[in-house]
Amino acid sequence: MPTILLWLDEAETYRRAAEAAGLASRCTLVAVPRAGTPDAALLEQADAVLAWGAPAGLLDRMPKLRWVQALTAGVEMWLGRPDVTDRFALCCARGTHRVAMPENILGALFHITKPYTHAALAQREHKWVRKVGQPLAGKTLGIIGLGAIGAEVAKKAAALELRVIGTKRRAEPVAHVDKVVPPERTAEILAESDFVLLLLPATPSTENSADAAFLAQMKPGAWLLNFGRGALVVDADLIAAVNRKQIAGAVLDVFRQEPLPPEHPFWATENIQVLPHIGGMHPTRDAIVAELFVENLGRFLDGRPLAAKVDLAAGY
Ligand code: GLV
Repeated sequence: MPTILLWLDEAETYRRAAEAAGLASRCTLVAVPRAGTPDAALLEQADAVLAWGAPAGLLDRMPKLRWVQALTAGVEMWLGRPDVTDRFALCCARGTHRVAMPENILGALFHITKPYTHAALAQREHKWVRKVGQPLAGKTLGIIGLGAIGAEVAKKAAALELRVIGTKRRAEPVAHVDKVVPPERTAEILAESDFVLLLLPATPSTENSADAAFLAQMKPGAWLLNFGRGALVVDADLIAAVNRKQIAGAVLDVFRQEPLPPEHPFWATENIQVLPHIGGMHPTRDAIVAELFVENLGRFLDGRPLAAKVDLAAGY
C-alpha cells in the first residue's frame, strides 16, 4: 500500500477528507508536524508527500517519491533545486484560491477608493469628516498574469462594472476580460489601467519585472497591487515612483522577505499599504485544499494523471 506523508499541522482535515472519499483504506497516511522532520525510515518508504516545503536535498532521500503536493499556488520554493526533478510530479494548489484571494483583492480596491480608513481614524477623535469615495465603476483593472485567480477576480470586478484587461502567456479569451494580450504587450495594459494587479508566479523570467521601466509605462496616478510574489517588484524603483507621485501608490501583500523586516522602507512610504500576506488566508482553507488533495490522491492511487501539475520549466 502506498505511504503518503502528511507533513503539516492540519493533517486531520486531510485524513478525514481521504476517509470521506473512501481512499484512506487504500493507502497509509502518516502525519508529521510542520516543524518536525520525517525520520529516515519514513523518507525511504513514502510514495508521496503533502507539504508546505522541504529543506533542499531532503527529497533525494525519498527514493520511492512519485508525487509532491504543495499547499500553495505559487511554488517557487520548490523550483530550481537539484532535488526537484521530473522523477516525481510536483502539484501546486492551483484553483484553491477561488474565494479569499479575489475578495481580498477587491478589498484592496475598495481600500484605495473609499474613505473607510479615513473615517476610522477620524472616529478615534470623534470627528465628523466627510470625504468622497471614488467609484470603481468605469475604471480599468489590468491583470498581469491572468491565471485561475485572475479569472475569478475578473468575474467579480466585472460585476462592479470595472473594465478588465490583462496579460496571459497563452493569450486566449478569458470570460469577463475585455482584452487579453501576451506578456510581450504588457505595456499596452499598463498604459490603459487605473489599477495594475500583479498575479504572476515568481520565476526567473518574471523576477524584477515591475521595475522602473514598467512603472513608467503605467498611467500617471494609477495604483499597483501585488498579490503575486515579492520578487516581481524592484522595491527601490517602486518607492521612487510612489515618492515622486509618478503613480498614486501601491497595495502590497507579498514581499521578498516575509515577514517584512521592520526597517524596510515600504512600512514608512506614504501611499504604500503593507498587508501581511493575507490574500489567500481563509478560515476553511485546509478544507478547500483537501478537496484538491483528495482528487489527486484518487488519481494517484488509480495511476491517472494528476491535477494542477507544475510545469517545471515554466515554473507554475
Ligand atoms: C500563497 O501565497 C499561495 O501561493 O498559495
